[in-house]
Parts: sequence; structure tokens; C-alpha cells
Amino acid sequence: MHDQPYVLRLERPDDVGTINDLHATLFGPERFRRAAYVLREGVDPLPDLSFVAVGQDETVAASVRMTPIVIGECPALILGPLVVTPAFRGRGAGRALVRLGLAHAWAAGHEAVLLVGDLPYYAPLGFVHLGRDVITLPAPVDPDRVLVCGLRERALTGLCGEARNINARSFG
Ligand SMILES: CC(C)(COP(=O)(O)OP(=O)(O)OC[C@H]1O[C@@H](n2cnc3c(N)ncnc32)[C@H](O)[C@@H]1OP(=O)(O)O)[C@@H](O)C(=O)NCCC(=O)NCCS
Repeated sequence: MHDQPYVLRLERPDDVGTINDLHATLFGPERFRRAAYVLREGVDPLPDLSFVAVGQDETVAASVRMTPIVIGECPALILGPLVVTPAFRGRGAGRALVRLGLAHAWAAGHEAVLLVGDLPYYAPLGFVHLGRDVITLPAPVDPDRVLVCGLRERALTGLCGEARNINARSFG
């Protein structure tokens, strides 16, 4: 199993059940309280920016999605969840999915991508930490794990404020 090759492709509707199971297994019921979940709640991930890695038997081995959000006054995307099944870890699938997602987001004209994750993993992929509380989230989160990637020149210049679900009302 460990040597089984994988390929990347767009997520398909019939992958959703497997991906939901992966999220449930890897993040548990707590996932619904996470800030990243609140940002995505009720918003469909963008089908053109949601990718999976599949093994030879077409089983989903990894998944990444991107969902529209707003940061301050700027449209942006949130990347995640990124999940890789244990049998496929350490083989580049996670980073390959992030790179693929970012490349397609750039090609589609998006400006910036936010995620909640570990800087050592995401920094080589272009993510940076803008500073504590530069971008706030709608639920408790470790501020050091709020990372962004600018897809255009100066996309991160002045990017700050509250990251919000696109369906949330702004009272600002
Ligand atoms: C984190 C995760 C997506 C990594 O997927 P992966 O396919 O194994 O990652 P890659 O093969 O692309 O990269 C592996 C490298 O990243 C490192 N790495 C993995 N998780 C890391 C982390 N949290 N912080 C820093 N480095 C990490 C590995 O040690 C490995 O390093 P090496 O290349 O020097 O050996 C996977 O472990 C996973 O699904 N974990 C559970 C869900 C999760 O935490 N998702 C991320 C939420 S932000």
C-alpha cells in the first residue's frame, strides 16, 4: 500500500462521502467548532479549486478544498481542510495538492488565500504570518497559526481585519 502511486485530479461529487469520512476521522466532532469551519459554514467549496489525490484503485487518499471568504473588505479564499490518509503521508501529496490549488486560484484571478495551520509546513508553499491579530477570525484560534498567501503583487499589503464567512453580516 505504501508504494501505491497516486494522481491528482479535481474533486467529483461522488468523492464527497469519502472526504466527509476523512474529515470526521482526522478532526473529530470538534471540527465544527473550529474557526476555519465557521468561516466555511454553509458555503460550498469552489468545485474548480477542490482537488483530491487518488490511489491506483481510485480510492481518495487526500483532499484539499478552497472556499470564498472575506478579509476586511477584500474577497479571499480559505484553503482547507487539507487531509492525507495515514498510508499516503510523507509522499508529497499534501504539498502537491496545496501547490495545485494555489496555481489554479492564481489562474482564476484570486488575490489571497488564508488558512489556519503550521507555518513550518506552509511557509515553503508561500504562506506567511502577518502578525498576531492582524487578521482576526470569528472563533478562538491560535493567532500564530493564521497564515496567508498573496497570489498577486502587493496582495498582502494592507490586508487586515476580520476574516468572515461570505454569508455573515458585517456590522462594521
Ligand atoms: C499535515 C498533512 C496534510 C501532511 O500531508 P503529507 O502528504 O504527509 O505532507 P507532505 O508529504 O507533502 O509533506 C511531508 C513533510 O511535511 C512535514 N510535516 C507534516 N506535518 C507537519 C506539520 N504540522 N508541521 C511541520 N511539518 C509537517 C513532514 O514531517 C514531512 O517533512 P519531510 O518532507 O522533511 O520529511 C497530513 O499529515 C494530515 O492530513 N494530517 C492530519 C490533518 C491535518 O493536520 N491537516 C492540516 C490541517 S492545517
